[in-house]
Amino acid sequence: MGQLDGKVAIVTGAGRGIGKATAITYGREGARVVVASRTPATTEAVARQIWDAGGEAIGIACDVGHKDQIFAMVDQAVAAFGPIDILVNNAQGFGTEANPQKSTVFVSVQDTDDVELEYTFRTGAQATLWAMQAVFPHMKDRGGKIINFASAAGMTGDPGNTSYNIAKEAIRVITRTAAREWGPLGIQVNTVNPFLRTDAWENWEKARPEDVRKYADSVPMKRLGDPMKDGGPLMVFLASDGNSYMTGSDFNLDGGWEIHA
Ligand SMILES: NC(=O)c1ccc[n+]([C@@H]2O[C@H](COP(=O)([O-])OP(=O)(O)OC[C@H]3O[C@@H](n4cnc5c(N)ncnc54)[C@H](OP(=O)(O)O)[C@@H]3O)[C@@H](O)[C@H]2O)c1
Repeated sequence: MGQLDGKVAIVTGAGRGIGKATAITYGREGARVVVASRTPATTEAVARQIWDAGGEAIGIACDVGHKDQIFAMVDQAVAAFGPIDILVNNAQGFGTEANPQKSTVFVSVQDTDDVELEYTFRTGAQATLWAMQAVFPHMKDRGGKIINFASAAGMTGDPGNTSYNIAKEAIRVITRTAAREWGPLGIQVNTVNPFLRTDAWENWEKARPEDVRKYADSVPMKRLGDPMKDGGPLMVFLASDGNSYMTGSDFNLDGGWEIHA
């Protein structure tokens, strides 16, 4: 028996990193998984990995910066697997639409560029809102679990990260607002703030080695988390029936970084 048997889950940004680890873990726990991400080849590869491990999945290419693609992806997911029980808003774009980046390009507040802010906000906060709106008709009569991704960077006002911080803090407030509005309908909405080693970390390390080493050294548990080993169990719990009474909350998946002195 899996903890997510019979559930249908969408995971955005599931081609790599935390999204991929979440999709694979959900597949192992019995969910039918929609692997939604920007690069078609990676969505197919992750879906195939889930099938090879005995699970069920489909890959759908979806650039979350485009509302029509999000709504089309949810329609396709429902047509394949039925109503959605779990939505994980994990994708986040960086840079600009014309020149996307793998992570933040650090610039100070006074130099923050309108075009970069618009793209970061659109692929983070607006995409999260759009996906929540797209699954709402499927959750409003039967409840559901929505897990959004924010960041300690936003919570602490990480210098040089203005656009990202704005997008991530907006996601936390969208979470709390929907938790209050949709609580009576049994839709639980929570936020995860991770500190896990992924490609994004490797890129931050290249851009700001000193700062990133300081971040990593200040984790009380003295290691960076692993998306599968450390992230998977929390992601499963938040999506499962065991999470029956938590909504509008932040879960700091960060080895205690948020409370470091
Ligand atoms: N890693 C951390 O410690 C950390 C810390 C704080 C917050 N977070 C947040 O946690 C989430 C996952 O982070 P991660 O480290 O796993 O990231 P990652 O390794 O960089 O992977 C990001 C995934 O999102 C996809 N993606 C990016 N833009 C997209 C778009 N416009 N449409 C659809 N998919 C898109 C990427 O697709 P492609 O493969 O096509 O590029 C990739 O599969 C993000 O929201 C991030 O901001 C992570």
